[in-house]
Amino acid sequence: MRRKLVVGNWKMHGKREANTSLIEGILNGRPFACDVVVCAPFPFLGDLVAILEGQDVALGAQDCSAHEQGAHTGEVSASMLAEFGCRYVIVGHSERRADHHESHKIVADKGKAALAEGVTPIVCVGETLAQREAGQTEAVITCQLSAVTHTLAQHIDRVVIAYEPVWAIGTGKTATPAQAQAVHALLRAQLAAVTPHASEMRLLYGGSVTADNARTLFSQPDIDGGLIGGASLKASEFVAICKAGA
Ligand code: PGA
Repeated sequence: MRRKLVVGNWKMHGKREANTSLIEGILNGRPFACDVVVCAPFPFLGDLVAILEGQDVALGAQDCSAHEQGAHTGEVSASMLAEFGCRYVIVGHSERRADHHESHKIVADKGKAALAEGVTPIVCVGETLAQREAGQTEAVITCQLSAVTHTLAQHIDRVVIAYEPVWAIGTGKTATPAQAQAVHALLRAQLAAVTPHASEMRLLYGGSVTADNARTLFSQPDIDGGLIGGASLKASEFVAICKAGA
């Protein structure tokens, strides 16, 4: 039985004081029957690791470098994240793939760098609206996933995959549970071809998840939780989504 996982992706939001009350609001919503992670911008990790120390809400980051260390101005390595108590890192979010021209290979290398430091990568995949309308969803997902399975080889079972249709992110247009389940089933089948542990891997759905639609999405057989953007910025909404992960 896979334990559900709910991950908040704060994106480029937050202020130190407001973060503290958001985190306190989340902690006050416990107990949760699922694993909960908060992925915050880099400068806030130090504050948050202190608040979350010993708590059952884990800390994550939103990106890491594919490099171990060196002359890479502006980059943050996976070992730095590990030192700041991050147990998870989002890699290959569609906003980064688009804004920073991250290739499938770079995303896979970031995943590898994270795993090398014991940080669990949450690897995002997803098609654009144009790709879906052109009937390319399966081909796009297959291509994105195969770069990761190729690079991580037998370690693939240590990652979390998040299916985030680009057209559903921040738009209020959630994929229907059937649409999301169909892609999740495809992902799991493809993972089963490369690892005997595919049935234990957690596959998250992301894209306009709210307290209203979370329960139906999370009750699909291959959806093991969510990657939550906008709705993770309000404690009551995020707590309600975490409760839907029971
Ligand atoms: P959203 O974002 O929940 O605001 O749609 C999800 C994400 O981008 O991770």
